[in-house]
Amino acid sequence: MILTANSLLSLPPIAQQIIDYADTSRIFLFYGDMGAGKTTLIKSLCDVLGSNDNITSPTFAIVNEYEGRDSKIYHFDFYRLKNQNEALDIGCDEYFYSGNYCFIEWPEKIPGILPDNYVKVAIKVMENNLRQITLDKF
Ligand SMILES: Nc1ncnc2c1ncn2[C@@H]1O[C@H](COP(=O)(O)OP(=O)(O)OP(=O)(O)O)[C@@H](O)[C@H]1O
Ligand SMILES: [Mg+2]
Repeated sequence: MILTANSLLSLPPIAQQIIDYADTSRIFLFYGDMGAGKTTLIKSLCDVLGSNDNITSPTFAIVNEYEGRDSKIYHFDFYRLKNQNEALDIGCDEYFYSGNYCFIEWPEKIPGILPDNYVKVAIKVMENNLRQITLDKF
């Protein structure tokens, strides 16, 4: 499925569509260049899931935990990861297989330890500041 965001205001309905598309999938991998809008879209997704928590990119901790309406939400940013062992050390497997929502920025950093089933969210900045958001389910 391909969605197009033309502004920040268009994100809430898009976030709802992404949650609906995922159905029972709980793991989301976000692909896109720096500044593509991964964290911004995750904020909107957390909103849909009923979290009032302050959503910011986890820099120091690698993972942030939020309280959604029906589930916890784990937000990962692996940008600064030096190697995959660092991810294993924080117990990322336990998060991934917990059944809670997992939103993962920079999954490229942990190719060997990604779960088999996930929703891939690829964000591409187009001309006129449009964002093309491509969804695939694996
Ligand atoms: N759909 C959108 N429409 C307009 N502006 C957007 C949209 N999504 C994100 N932005 C803007 O782009 C900037 C970067 O967004 P964001 O921090 O979410 O990117 P990111 O992909 O998480 O980057 P990084 O790889 O550094 O973590 C922000 O200023 C944000 O407001
Ligand atoms: Mg980010």
